[in-house]
This record gives sequence, C-alpha cells and structure tokens, in this order.
Amino acid sequence: MRLWTWIGGLFARLWTWLWRLFARREPAGADPNVRFLSEDQQHALDQILQDNWDTDCILLYGAAGTGKSTIVREISQALPGKVIVVAPTGLAAANVDGTTIHRLLGFGPYPISYRHPRQIRLLKPDRRRVLRRAEIIIVDEASMLRADLMDALDWGLRKNLGKETKPFGGKKVLLVGDLLQLDPVVGDDEKSVLSEWDGHMFFDGKVWQEARLRAIRLETVHRQADDLEFAAALADSRRPERLPFAVDWLDDHLGISGESGEKVVIATTNAIADEINAAHLKELMGRYPPYEGIVPEGQKFAESEMRAPKRLYLKPGARVLIVANDRNEPRRYVNGTLAKVTRLFKSRVEVLTDEGRTIILDPYTWDRYEPQVSEQTGLLEQCPVASYTQIPLRLAWAFTVHKSQGLSFSEVHLIPGQRFFASGHAYVGLSRCRTIAGQTCQRRITEADFYWNPRLRAFLEKIEANPIWP
Ligand SMILES: Nc1ncnc2c1ncn2[C@@H]1O[C@H](COP(=O)(O)OP(=O)(O)OP(=O)(O)O)[C@@H](O)[C@H]1O
Ligand SMILES: [Mg+2]
Repeated sequence: MRLWTWIGGLFARLWTWLWRLFARREPAGADPNVRFLSEDQQHALDQILQDNWDTDCILLYGAAGTGKSTIVREISQALPGKVIVVAPTGLAAANVDGTTIHRLLGFGPYPISYRHPRQIRLLKPDRRRVLRRAEIIIVDEASMLRADLMDALDWGLRKNLGKETKPFGGKKVLLVGDLLQLDPVVGDDEKSVLSEWDGHMFFDGKVWQEARLRAIRLETVHRQADDLEFAAALADSRRPERLPFAVDWLDDHLGISGESGEKVVIATTNAIADEINAAHLKELMGRYPPYEGIVPEGQKFAESEMRAPKRLYLKPGARVLIVANDRNEPRRYVNGTLAKVTRLFKSRVEVLTDEGRTIILDPYTWDRYEPQVSEQTGLLEQCPVASYTQIPLRLAWAFTVHKSQGLSFSEVHLIPGQRFFASGHAYVGLSRCRTIAGQTCQRRITEADFYWNPRLRAFLEKIEANPIWP
C-alpha cells in the first residue's frame, strides 16, 4: 500500500513537472510574476494533486502573500476542466477567476438555517453535472467563510451529488486561507440564525462532526519578496511576543502622509472610501447626470444592501469596479472586475476592463429575499420581496480593507480612519503592498491597531500542533 502511495506521489510530481515544461499556457488570470513555485508551494501542490487524500478536506493556510491563491490557479491548470473554484465573496472569487458559493449552489443571499437544510435546492441537471465532473472544489479566502455557508456547501453538495451520507457528497474540498486575515462579516439579520452554531467561523460548521481536514502550511512570503525586511515585520506583527518589534520597524520605515498621490487608497470604512472616490471624480472633466437606481414602488430596499449606489455619478476616465456577474455566456466579466469608463449613454455605460475588453453595461436587477413559510411544505422558504435596478458599477480609486483582501498592489495609501475594527483588519490593510517604499499611511501604526479574535489563534495553534483536525 505504501509503495503504491509512493509511486502515485512520484507520478503526480512527474506529471506536474512535464506539464510545466511543455504546456504553453496563457489563460486569463495567469500571473506573469510566477515563474517557479517555491519548495513549500510545490510540496503543497503535490500533496493536493495526489489521487487519494487521507481526509475529506485539505486546508491550505499561510500568511498573506505566501502564494495560496497562486496554488489555486496552478491546481486549475494542472487539472483542466476538473476543478471548481469558489470564494465566499464576489471580489475574492474574481481574484482567482472563480465564482461565489452562492452562485455555484443557487443559494439566495441569506443565512441557511441548520434546522431547515431542505432550503438547499436541487439544481438543474446541467448544473448538477458540473458538480459531478469536478474532482476538487476549492474555496479561496476561507477565513471569510461563515459556519452557515460552510454547512450549506456541505448540504448542497450532498444533495446535488445524491450522496446524502457522505461529507461534501464525497467530493474533495480544498479550503484556502489565512486565519489571521479578516473573519466573516455577520450582519444584524444573520446573528439570530448563526446562534445555531458555536461560532461564526468555517471550523464551527456542523460538517466537522463527520468530516476531517488535513492542514498544509505555506511559509515563504512572495508578495514582499523584494522587501524581506517588510515581510519580516509583517510576520512579526502576527505574533504577540514579536508585535513590539514590528511596530518599531513600521515606525522607522512607513511613510506618513496626508496625501495619497497616485496610489490606490485602502481605507477602513465605506464612508472614507466613498469620499475619496467622489473627490477623484470631481477632478475629471465634464458634467454628467447621475444614473438613478430604481426600487419599484411599495418595496423597501436599504441603501446598505445596494451593491451599486442609488445615485451613481460617473465620468469618462473614471476608475470603476463591476459589481455583478455577467449573465451571458461566455462571461465577459465577473463581480469584481476592474475597469475604466470610456463612454456614457443615457441608460448604459461603456467600460474598458483591465483585461482589455470593451463592454457595454446595461442596468442590472438584484433581488432581496425574506424567509416565508411555504404553504405546501410548511418549511421556511426564501422569497424575493424587493428588487433594485442600477448600472452594476462602483467607483474604485479607493477600496475598503475588506474589499482589498486577496489583492496585491505596488503602491498603497492606507487610511485607518478612527480605528481598525475587525479581527486581522490592520494586518490585511498593511500586507497588500509589495514594498514598504510603495506604502504610505495616514498616521502612525501602534500596537493597539492589531487585534485578532482569540478563537482563531486557538484554532491555528491546534492545527500547527497536529495537522489532522478534529
Ligand atoms: N512562486 C512565486 N514566485 C513569484 N511570485 C509569486 C509566487 N507565488 C506567488 N507570487 C506572487 O506573490 C503575490 C501574492 O501571491 P498570492 O496572491 O497567491 O498570495 P496569497 O497567499 O493568496 O495572499 P493573500 O493571503 O493576501 O490572499 C502575487 O503577486 C503573486 O504573483
Ligand atoms: Mg489569496
């Protein structure tokens, strides 16, 4: 048995090597920075590509910029047509050319109660076939995967693969993420449903009563490979006993400035990011009326839930983010694609995406759902109760830290505002830039800026001590 495992491993390594040597591939999203994988990346890739896993799930973890998402792309290329890549949020999904878990399994944008797993839909046959075809289902940015969504993924796979007694319907699931980055966002209306779990993280999912994971760690930091001192300071900031050294180093090296210049701005709150975007827009020539979002009469749709602003001001030249998935096939853009506005029409907008595609965007309609009891089954059902229609765009000179997770930039200006307020918030904001020379901050960073939810650290310590969990 051992011999076969060894031969299997050797074969996987040989295959990866041959494929790297001969394959001339330039898919969308191929990363020109990555010419060779580091040893730890290669080792992780080999383990993941093995035919037989000894656990239901693998967790690939490691600090910011250790090349986790890069491995996700490598797996997709090593197993063409056999991998599904998803992420908890649209932007994180776009970063790895994937889709959201909600979209893959047809969930509405609401928490899925443990007591009503029948809310999980049976998908159309062609979409079930997609799931059956997949050898591995990869979830990037798993630190933002909420417990309810972890379990919904499990139930959705069981139901749609027709294997209700097997965790994840018998599919291999690869979770990818850094526990010390942002944890899941829990809205007020989600708190009551989430009380059915012990906590809100993916490792609080009920699926772990049946499933096990193997944790594999990446250690070499690539994002800051040209600035090893910065990489070391970021690593120090993750360890309480080393934090004072990290803060001292940042004090000496991080430029403090009130101006962002040409840099991408990363701010803690939406309000700050919105203000900066408005100021940039003002600098562009011309006056154009805003695009008005429409909520049908008698319906309620809170502004906080609107993906694109109610009054969307644009001008040619504006930097924008597309905030919806293309409903046409083949898809020309996803939720999270960056672009520049090229022309404005009365009720449509032409943009040039960063990948070089010119696209005309029409208004898009989002639905808001509420639970209702089905007359036929007596179970809760999520029914659309309101809709919102707008051109699916947002200005994108400035981002929030939450939206920047997973991204790399050469120049960043960080605006902490009043304070960093989420677990891993300051660390994510500081770790997006490739060099400290490219980074400035609105104020000095102090030890008090760094905060992590103790439950995350406890979980991390457990898997560091024993990679098989639970
Ligand atoms: N083997 C490599 N050689 C050179 N550059 C690399 C390599 N692996 C990753 N990179 C670069 O490092 C940066 C970070 O990589 P990646 O986004 O995969 O890291 P990550 O671990 O997913 O980070 P995060 O935790 O922030 O999501 C990217 O710019 C990528 O191009
Ligand atoms: Mg990543």
